[in-house]
Amino acid sequence: HKFVTILAGGGGTRFWPLSRQEMPKQLLNISGNDIMLNDTIGRFNGVIPLENTIVVTNSSQAVQLESIMHISVPASNILVEPIARNTAASILYAALFINQKFGDSLMVVSPSDHHITDEAKYKKTLSEACSVAEETNKIVTIGIKPTFPSTGYGYISHSSEAYLTKPCNVYEVAEFVEKPSFIVAEEYLSSGNYLWNSGIFIWKTSVIIDHFKRYLPRLYKTMLPLVDYLDRDHQKDIIRDIYPNLQNISIDYGVLERSDEVVVISGDFGWNDIGSWDALGAIIPPDEFGNIVKSKHLGIQTRNSIIYGEERLITTIGIDGLIIADTKDALLICSKDRAQDVKDIVVLLKKNG
Ligand code: GDD
Ligand code: MG
Repeated sequence: HKFVTILAGGGGTRFWPLSRQEMPKQLLNISGNDIMLNDTIGRFNGVIPLENTIVVTNSSQAVQLESIMHISVPASNILVEPIARNTAASILYAALFINQKFGDSLMVVSPSDHHITDEAKYKKTLSEACSVAEETNKIVTIGIKPTFPSTGYGYISHSSEAYLTKPCNVYEVAEFVEKPSFIVAEEYLSSGNYLWNSGIFIWKTSVIIDHFKRYLPRLYKTMLPLVDYLDRDHQKDIIRDIYPNLQNISIDYGVLERSDEVVVISGDFGWNDIGSWDALGAIIPPDEFGNIVKSKHLGIQTRNSIIYGEERLITTIGIDGLIIADTKDALLICSKDRAQDVKDIVVLLKKNG
């Protein structure tokens, strides 16, 4: 059996004010093609059947999600978390669900906030990664050649020798570092020895469950009672009891940084995490002044800026390297090099009610 688990319960807070709690970025049509979640599900067409597609979402988004997700994933495959407890919890929930219902299976984990330009190449890398996970019982990550010192990604350094003869682009991971500081990210980039972690993982359910036992035993033990309820109606009640007690940690910090059984397959398929405003350039090509504009806009001496607006005309004079995002009820003005910090505004907003 081969399954894909799509993580779609994130807050997308670095995309505020466009992305909101009930309508986060994975449910928005940022590409101009379709909402990101539908694009993500569609990418597995021909690789993994829809009945083997699991979507993990959050109760505050579930209603909207089901109404705008026009691709028919079976209702029982939509796992709803009562509160967000980060990606380790979501992945364990899905892994236990698959393992309990179908036995040990191959599991692909995919975020729902990526833009991929060459889908054929992506599918090829994915198939190779699946066979590697099947044959080696390793945690398989897909690595991307970094192009700038991002502080929003995980970095992977690996052995120089190939791990397998075929496919030949698989390496043993030497070190996994999640979201390094800017200075460290610059070092990694210039060393040429690091790949970005794409956030797409491939493993057997038995392998990842074993990793949870080893590296996140508390999370594992708290989640385990769920197994007895997966087929029953009161799954929702038990989930409500369990979730508040779960550790809030991402799979990257919790498992990937700690395990020495990780391999990386390098991929080159036009990958972008549309994680924050500064990533919009991956979808909307910059104009001759380096501006990425999705708005009515008039500018004088305006350079290297990201300008997003919905209704009003935005006018700018003499600006460089700014993000301006204007929605009906909120306006963001942010220096481009602080794009990762937009999430702090959301924290502040929550604190102030
Ligand atoms: N169901 C659920 N519940 N989904 C979640 C939760 C949660 O609590 N938290 C996040 N997600 C979803 C997001 O919607 C997204 O699709 C995916 O999980 C990854 O979360 P992000 O918050 O976008 O992670 P990131 O981009 O900061 O970092 C990860 O991805 C990078 C590449 O895109 C890490 O894996 C990095 O190492 C990696 O480089
Ligand atoms: Mg992301």
